[in-house]
Amino acid sequence: MSTSPSLGSQLRQIAESLAREAGDMALRGRKSGPLTATTKSSPIDMVTQFDKASEAMITEGLATLRPDDSIIGEEGAAKKGTSSITWHIDPIDGTTNFYFDLPMWAVSIGAVDEHGPLAGAVYVPALGEMFSGARSEGATMNEVPISVRANHDIADALVCTGYSYLISEREVHAKRVANIVMKVRDLRRFGAAAVDLCFVASGRLDVYFEEHLNSWDLIAGQVIATEAGAIITDYVGNPVTPSQVLASTPGVHADFIRLIAASGPGTS
Ligand code: IPD
Ligand code: CA
Ligand code: CA
Repeated sequence: MSTSPSLGSQLRQIAESLAREAGDMALRGRKSGPLTATTKSSPIDMVTQFDKASEAMITEGLATLRPDDSIIGEEGAAKKGTSSITWHIDPIDGTTNFYFDLPMWAVSIGAVDEHGPLAGAVYVPALGEMFSGARSEGATMNEVPISVRANHDIADALVCTGYSYLISEREVHAKRVANIVMKVRDLRRFGAAAVDLCFVASGRLDVYFEEHLNSWDLIAGQVIATEAGAIITDYVGNPVTPSQVLASTPGVHADFIRLIAASGPGTS
């Protein structure tokens, strides 16, 4: 007797296919013509025609495939649906990298139900890597199961972070990072939160932490990292929110919380 796929599995497939379609379109566009960029929250927070085109492609796809769901997208998509599902869309996460033609940018599409993040996909077109996951159904990269790195030693941890576009919000974090970099293996700043979360999920990083994100940066990567065995909380160990994210392999999570607390103000 065949059983039909779970809702999480169905939404994961939809997220994968829309992320791939939009990401490949943006990559082709990036390589073939001039970029039109304007700014948003600050002079360094950019949006290009491909951020908008990617979001339009994804929302049109959802209108056909999931017409009753709600949608929140970074470039303005906002729809109140009638089902229990809300999609959180970052049409290009890592727009600064996209603009500078660096490979670390992604399309991030996550679905939330009444219990929290349910399914998501993060597609990195320039690397040809599709990360996806669904609650209780594991996480994969290009269809191969992924899991976090086994590490219990904070001094051995490869750590990644990110900074807000608002310079005024960077000062506290910069001081904290200056202390943390003395206590860990090394530090990275790749420039795309959703990719950073997937890199924790796939064992390429031990820790990722950042403040002042939005739901579209977090949801898809949260499902993927959680399903790969990561622990995701805020900086003091409470349930994660976009405003404060600490994702790590379990063996260093408690030590990293202690390290953050010892490394500067603004953590509680
Ligand atoms: C940004 C990236 C970056 C992070 C910023 C985000 P965007 O998203 O994820 O790595 O440090 O906080 O806003 O603007 O490129 O979609
Ligand atoms: Ca983003
Ligand atoms: Ca974006």
